[in-house]
Amino acid sequence: MILILFGPPGAGKGTQAKLISDYAKIQHISTGDILRQHVKEGSAIGLKAKAYMDKGELVPDELVTDMLSDYLQRPETNAKKGFILDGFPRTRSQAQALDALLKKLGLKVSAALYFDATKDVIIKRLSGRRVCKQCGCIFHIVNMPPQREMLCDKCGSGLIQRDDDKEETIIRRLEVYHKQSTPVLRYYEKQNILRRVNGDLEADEVFKIVKRDIGQLWQGAAKHDNDSC
Ligand code: AP5
Repeated sequence: MILILFGPPGAGKGTQAKLISDYAKIQHISTGDILRQHVKEGSAIGLKAKAYMDKGELVPDELVTDMLSDYLQRPETNAKKGFILDGFPRTRSQAQALDALLKKLGLKVSAALYFDATKDVIIKRLSGRRVCKQCGCIFHIVNMPPQREMLCDKCGSGLIQRDDDKEETIIRRLEVYHKQSTPVLRYYEKQNILRRVNGDLEADEVFKIVKRDIGQLWQGAAKHDNDSC
């Protein structure tokens, strides 16, 4: 199963991707996480991407598409086992490049889940978000606080605020999303594989809807896993 998680920043894509990944035992691939890792390591990709990310702009299509293409074709990624793609595609050109790449690998997108959320909710969520600097686990100082202050429940490492979670950058990211990413919605709508989810609801509620909506896909994926054991 190849699942695209799509929607504005702060709609809960990363949170739901982790829940789905644990539940359905499918790997979670986030282009935002991969880019932040490149920035941390100071790689050539990271050096080029950082300026865009800090301003809340999209990293150029070619750079991010080549990065993902390389990632998906690594033997250790084992793309054929399926994955949840969070944060890609973000433009029509990325959506087309993804289809071409998947075709080359003998794969195709199973469904695109579109999480929508209102502006006020998004701003509150992103300004209160804290992430584990080690394992990437996502928390919120009010909605999903860690058990020990500023420490990850999962691995015990320190929590940090993302550089792009400052209010002015959040507003820019939202503008960029509405301008550049809306065509992606239409792209998957036309293919009849788009499912809409109300991202304003509490995380547990959202997850219940996601489970119900794509239950059949999971059954298919589980069967595929069993067949390939
Ligand atoms: P990326 O890392 O993909 O960020 P984003 O799309 O802006 O999305 P976020 O991670 O901010 O939000 P989310 O929807 O995952 O919300 P989360 O679950 O964390 O991209 C960052 C940057 O990288 C981009 O700006 C761009 O520069 C670059 N980039 C990445 N991919 C690219 C691409 N394909 N092309 C070009 N550039 C690219 O939740 C947010 C908070 O809310 C958390 O605190 C969480 O605890 C809380 N929360 C979540 N759900 C709920 C809920 N239902 N109720 C209450 N609280 C909730």
